[in-house]
Amino acid sequence: MIKTVTTTPYQDQKPGTSGLRKKVPVFAQPNYAENFIQSIFDSLEGFDGKTLVIGGDGRYYNREVIQKAIKMAAAAGFGKVMVGQGGILSTPAASNIIRKYHAFGGIVLSASHNPGGPTEDFGIKYNIGNGGPAPEKITDAIYARSKVIDTYKIADTADLDLDKIGTFKVAGMAVEVIDPVADYAELMEQLFDFGAIRALIASGVRVVIDSMGAVTGPYATEILENRLGAPEGSVRNATPLPDFGGHHPDPNLVHAKELYDDVMSKDGPHFGAASDGDGDRNMVVGKGMFVTPSDSLAIIAANAKLAPGYAKGIAGIARSMPTSAAADRVAEKLGIGMYETPTGWKFFGNLLDAGKVTVCGEESFGTGSDHVREKDGLWAVLFWLNIMAGRNESVAEIVKSHWAEYGRNYYSRHDYEEVDSDAANGMMTALREKLGNLPGQNFGSLKVAAADDFAYHDPIDGSVSKNQGVRVLFEGGSRVVFRLSGTGTSGATIRVYVERYEPDPAKHDIDTQVALADLIAVADEISELKKRSGRDAPTVIT
Ligand code: G1P
Ligand code: ZN
Repeated sequence: MIKTVTTTPYQDQKPGTSGLRKKVPVFAQPNYAENFIQSIFDSLEGFDGKTLVIGGDGRYYNREVIQKAIKMAAAAGFGKVMVGQGGILSTPAASNIIRKYHAFGGIVLSASHNPGGPTEDFGIKYNIGNGGPAPEKITDAIYARSKVIDTYKIADTADLDLDKIGTFKVAGMAVEVIDPVADYAELMEQLFDFGAIRALIASGVRVVIDSMGAVTGPYATEILENRLGAPEGSVRNATPLPDFGGHHPDPNLVHAKELYDDVMSKDGPHFGAASDGDGDRNMVVGKGMFVTPSDSLAIIAANAKLAPGYAKGIAGIARSMPTSAAADRVAEKLGIGMYETPTGWKFFGNLLDAGKVTVCGEESFGTGSDHVREKDGLWAVLFWLNIMAGRNESVAEIVKSHWAEYGRNYYSRHDYEEVDSDAANGMMTALREKLGNLPGQNFGSLKVAAADDFAYHDPIDGSVSKNQGVRVLFEGGSRVVFRLSGTGTSGATIRVYVERYEPDPAKHDIDTQVALADLIAVADEISELKKRSGRDAPTVIT
């Protein structure tokens, strides 16, 4: 039986960089999740009888919302729902399922790298038929709808047992509960040389993956331990838990410090990697070498041919604007296209669909390719292992020889979290007003070459996205970038991105913060960040 329920709209359901993210108590308000899910369906056309993929990162409230989404999909007229067993699907795995089974789209429940739990974050995002995040045209429509919605439809039936694999019926609609890992593991086996990686591990290279109590646990265990022969226990924190076991599942030097310290210790593993809540981010560390995500993109692109899935070479590279220009140098050398997009994976979709680019990445620990339409944490880890096996070199050797060949882009991001929103907006407004006067000005030895508020003209669909971050470019290739986060759930997060290019290999061993010190000081001088935010240091440095 289908019920039509009267509801009152909420005014705050505006999707951010990656879907709608709020604290659980916000999502748990009456009809809050239902309103948003119905607003998604109301913004789509032509899904009658088609398939919807549903899954999430296992965080608190995942199962409850999955039950609602299944019943609402049945009421909306979908022909079938495919849902991961236990409600689990990593973001890249969901993207793969949508593509592989030609689904109409998918609902992915996650707040990515934000903590989970009864008072922590939850999120809902919609992915389209290419497997990628919904473009702004759709997210704008969802938001507009959510502000006026007055009813939603839901099947009035009992909850489905999400833990049993098989095909079931919910109000006449088929629901297939699938193994969340199998299709993904198969895809990875097609892309990478598992034989060579197995041999690398068998030769004594010790590899560990920290899943941080989040969704990649089952994926990493199946691939690394079962298929690649790493000893049991190589995957740490491998069980997805509703509160991620108290971990903040953000794979960076702050939250994955334990892993980092272990790899850096004398007897620790040779290679360590971590992923985030929903499995799309990655951090890669080798003994004596942390790989910045920007360098990781460049190195993967430069060595792509070593992986069987990319043996023919790559068509082009895309990176988000704040990501360092390291990959640009690789694209130039390979004679392939290079695209600079706004922050957020959704901007890569068109380029990937059009075959313009094969690999893409963001400085925020995101790397991926045209194999799915999301960034993919384990994919990046496997790519690194494939490159290590192919070159028979350690992470540090690979990175250093890359710098020697292309030069090094020193790079760091400074985040100021939970800053007063008015202060943060005031800072951005003041920066924008200054832009015209900056070119030509000197700050110590740094001379401003150009300054703008980044706008993106999508070369495929012609759409324009404005106000994507303030850039101050200095002569010689250094730059600082300012933007406000679109994924935070309390106050504002100011992100400052700092980059300096160093061609001289004799100067490639400087500590990053030291190498960037003058730029960091200039960034504060131009933005008055510390004065306006009342902070004297960043919350997180990556
Ligand atoms: C952050 C990252 C961005 C990434 C997004 C989703 O967005 O900076 O690169 O695509 O999370 O994982 P932000 O909070 O900066 O808007
Ligand atoms: Zn994520």
